[in-house]
Amino acid sequence: MPEKFVDLLFIDPPYNLTKYFNGNQFKKMSIASYTEWLDSWFSKLIKVLKPNASIYFCGDWRSSTSIHILLEKYFLVRNRITWEREKGRGAKSNWKNASEDIWFATVSEKYTFNVENVKLKRKVIAPYVDDKGVPKDWESMEDGNFRLTHPSNIWTDITVPFWSMPENTDHPTQKPEKLLAKIILASTNPGDFVLDPFLGSGTTSVVAKKLGRRYCGIEIDKTYCCLAEKRLEMADYDKSIQGYEDGVFWERNTGIERSKAYKMRSRFVQENIFSSPLLTPKER
Ligand SMILES: C[S@@+](CC[C@H](N)C(=O)[O-])C[C@H]1O[C@@H](n2cnc3c(N)ncnc32)[C@H](O)[C@@H]1O
Repeated sequence: MPEKFVDLLFIDPPYNLTKYFNGNQFKKMSIASYTEWLDSWFSKLIKVLKPNASIYFCGDWRSSTSIHILLEKYFLVRNRITWEREKGRGAKSNWKNASEDIWFATVSEKYTFNVENVKLKRKVIAPYVDDKGVPKDWESMEDGNFRLTHPSNIWTDITVPFWSMPENTDHPTQKPEKLLAKIILASTNPGDFVLDPFLGSGTTSVVAKKLGRRYCGIEIDKTYCCLAEKRLEMADYDKSIQGYEDGVFWERNTGIERSKAYKMRSRFVQENIFSSPLLTPKER
C-alpha cells in the first residue's frame, strides 16, 4: 500500500473472544496476548495514514484495555464512544453484554471534525417556550416535538441490522450503516479516503460510497468479499442510510417509522436487487 493516503482508518477486528467467521475460528486470549496480536499488524498500517488522519477502533469491554494501550503507543487518544446494542442474549449469572466501544484517536492535533454534520434529532419530553410562547431550541413536527442535539460519546440511537433491513447480511458481526455514517461524516470530507482492513460484509466501503468518499477494504474470507461487492452494487441504486435523513441522525426507530420514502426504497431493493444468485435464502 502507498504511504500517507488515508484520511480515516476504521478498524473492526475480531474481538478478544472465541468466535467463528465462516469457519475461521478466532480464540479468546489473555489481554497481553491480544495487545500483542493487535500490534503485530497495526504497527504496519501507520505509514498509510496522512498526518491529519483519524483512527476509529472497535472492541467490546474485554478488548478495550488492549486497544487503549495500543492507541496510546502511537497516537493521540481523543475519546471512547460507547454504543448500546439492543440485540443479544441475556446472561444467568452476569450482566447482559449490551454495549460496545469505539476508540477515537488522531495522528496529530490537526484533524477533521464536522460536528454540525452529526447532530442528533431527539424527541423533546418537556418542551420549553419563552414568555412569548416561542419554542426554545426545538421545533414542532407532524409526529412530535424535536430538538437537534450535539453528539456525545454515548450512542443509544443505533439499531443492529435485523432481517427485514436491506443492509442485513449473514455476516455474524455486521456493523450498522448508521454507525459508520456518523464516523465518516464527522471525520472526513467528500472525496477523502477511508480504509478498513477488516471489511467483513463491506459496511465501511458501502457507507463511504453512499456519502461520496473514496474507499478500500481488506477481508480474508471470500464469501464476505462477495457480500461486500453485492452491497456496493446495491449502493448504486439506493443511497439511503437507515436513521439518517434530511442531513440529521434520528433517535432510534423514529426515522424508520416516519419515512414512507425509506419503506418504498426498501421495497424497491427487495423486489429488484434481492433476486441475485449471490444472496442466500435468508437474505432474500
Ligand atoms: C468484526 S468483523 C468485521 C465486520 C464488519 N465491520 C462489517 O460491518 O461487516 C472482522 C472481520 O475480519 C475478518 N478477518 C479476520 N482476520 C483477518 C485478516 N487477517 N485479514 C483480513 N480480514 C480478517 C473476518 O473474516 C471478519 O469478517
